[in-house]
Amino acid sequence: MNSPFAQSPWFGGDYNPEQWPEAVWEEDVDLMRRAGVNLVTVGVFAWSLLEPEEGRYEFGWLDDVLDLLHANGLKVDLATATASPPPWFSHAYPESLPLTIDGVRLSPGSRQEYCPSSPQYRRSAGRLVRALAERYGDHPAVVLWHINNEYGCHVSRCYCDESAAAFRRWLEAKYGSIAALNEAWGTAFWSQRFSSFAEILPPRTTPAYANPTQALDFDRFSSDELLACYLSEKAILREVTPGLPVTTNFMGVFRGVDYWSWAPHVDVVSDDLYPDPADPAGPRAAAMARDLMRSLGRGRPWILMEQAAGAVNTRPSNAPKAAGQMRALSYQALARGADGILFFQWRQSAAGAEKFHSAMLPHAGTETRVWREVERLGSELGGLGAVMGTATRAQAALVFDWDSWWAIEQRGLPAATSYLALVSRWHAALTEAGLTVDLVQADAGLTAYPIVVVPSLFVMTDAQAEAIDAAARAGSSVLVTDQTGIVDENLRARLGGYLGELQSTLGVWIEEFWPLAGAWARPGAIPVAEEATIAPTVGVAGAVFVDGRATAAEWTEAVHVREAEVQAVFVGGALDGWPALTRNTRGAGAAWYLATRPDADGRAALVRRLITESGVRVERPVLEPGCGFVESVRRGDLLFVINHGAAPVSLAVEGTDLLSGDASLGMLLPQHGVAVIAAANVDVQLSPGTSTILPKTVPSSIR
Ligand code: GAL
Ligand code: ZN
Repeated sequence: MNSPFAQSPWFGGDYNPEQWPEAVWEEDVDLMRRAGVNLVTVGVFAWSLLEPEEGRYEFGWLDDVLDLLHANGLKVDLATATASPPPWFSHAYPESLPLTIDGVRLSPGSRQEYCPSSPQYRRSAGRLVRALAERYGDHPAVVLWHINNEYGCHVSRCYCDESAAAFRRWLEAKYGSIAALNEAWGTAFWSQRFSSFAEILPPRTTPAYANPTQALDFDRFSSDELLACYLSEKAILREVTPGLPVTTNFMGVFRGVDYWSWAPHVDVVSDDLYPDPADPAGPRAAAMARDLMRSLGRGRPWILMEQAAGAVNTRPSNAPKAAGQMRALSYQALARGADGILFFQWRQSAAGAEKFHSAMLPHAGTETRVWREVERLGSELGGLGAVMGTATRAQAALVFDWDSWWAIEQRGLPAATSYLALVSRWHAALTEAGLTVDLVQADAGLTAYPIVVVPSLFVMTDAQAEAIDAAARAGSSVLVTDQTGIVDENLRARLGGYLGELQSTLGVWIEEFWPLAGAWARPGAIPVAEEATIAPTVGVAGAVFVDGRATAAEWTEAVHVREAEVQAVFVGGALDGWPALTRNTRGAGAAWYLATRPDADGRAALVRRLITESGVRVERPVLEPGCGFVESVRRGDLLFVINHGAAPVSLAVEGTDLLSGDASLGMLLPQHGVAVIAAANVDVQLSPGTSTILPKTVPSSIR
């Protein structure tokens, strides 16, 4: 498989010339060259033009577009155009339209109007893909296939009869017999015992909530079913164009499908991300999404396939990106492993549903701030060939699990929870401590990481427990947080004190949950923010919360200790005196258990402790106080420093900024400022025993 990577980062965007008269195309390619564009995605929503009536293809216009791009040295990521079937298709095959959980048949007229299990959809899509592959497979401009678009973006679950039949086939293949399914789903409860697979339906709207295992299996099935759509297109492309790599664009940390099962099937991971420019927490969330993309590809470079040059048009109020903000977020992606920065879209539409969505080339043309920023970024990236193909190395692993995400947000649990919020907090705590974080599957090679955090792995298999244990034994500092190991993969409760096999790793077991009021209250409920206080256990050496008590919220539980050392206890409240934080020496490492959810200061203190005891090297350069979120990420030999905060920061790292050519020592980075530093040595060695606890008044981002 030829690598799709160029000599300098890919730069470009979705190019939709079908929206414009041909006279505009020449101007497009001229301006693309001026901006340093080298890759465009073509044809994403072109099905109705490529196949104006069933079986009749019109490729003439696309021939012209690809030839024009090629003549101008531009490469093409060619879409298979299957993301939005044409109106004739929906009218000829109305049963292909998706059905919602409440039985509403969705109407054509926007996009993605197909049921993933529809045989008519799969057949028509497959025919189009074959026709495109045969016609363009050896076109010199085409370097990458872009299969479909954002699978599951609008319709990730379909509840129609066709989907029901496919779900039954999926269940039969999984369980083999209805007896096995009855056992796994616990159907003895609420009189749900099935006599045959024919009685099984998708979890449509029911009087009370659905069987939890049925609901989880339907989530898994729905991810697999969309993946099957992708794989059926990929099989055709591999057959006709075996030399061309394929991708499909992911959507960041997306709940709809389990990207771990998708990732092995793409030749290059690509991602679409639209952080809200008005949200100060946007860059933190984006950092985690980008780390996920690198992790999905097991460290391989990925492509930022879509971002906005300015505003989107999907929120109630759509802030543009401020001067420099698009650039800063682009470098964030590059720092965290991207080899390409692309946009939706090249030229802002004059008509249609997204005409108020920004583009590289705005309505107002080239005498604009956005265009100038696009040109500047294109020219800078053209000089950053050194970054291509290099690795961003992580020191910490954060376990991320779609089964747990789906299951912990079901109804009928001790407390409502946002899985993403729980995981994101730990990503932020690790990142702000100066670590780079890989997201990992619990049973995939944790031993390589000095620090492993396992937040709320609600659904835990025995194999996952073993892998977590192996990491501790091999010398990692492993932190496990509340709501881990509560159920097995069939959502059956782990009996005998929860945590399953992790009880021996952690040296604790759990008797009872004690959620606190105020977390994710139902709409309309009076917000009561109940808090718990945790304090270091008297007499424990090197206690975590040394600078006083930490405050926690949302969740507490009654933990019994078998062999661990209690590091902190609850003070006051229902669990006064019970363990809140424990540490167990395990093999060459340590296994920590946290039975509540401390605030940001508490999380930061705990992460500092993990860093100290694991002796991990922290890559943060010294920055002056007063800053907000300042990222520093090492990729290959380069250190990226990006200031997302409002206040300027001053760098204390010796080297040369590749972007300005200036010496980086003493450099002032304003808000949205970026430096890419070729630096000899920016590591700060923290070894066990070194005091790393700084006074509370120093912002965490300068440590
Ligand atoms: C993506 C999609 C693009 C465009 C963009 C707007 O979801 O792939 O086609 O709609 O959002 O932000
Ligand atoms: Zn369906």
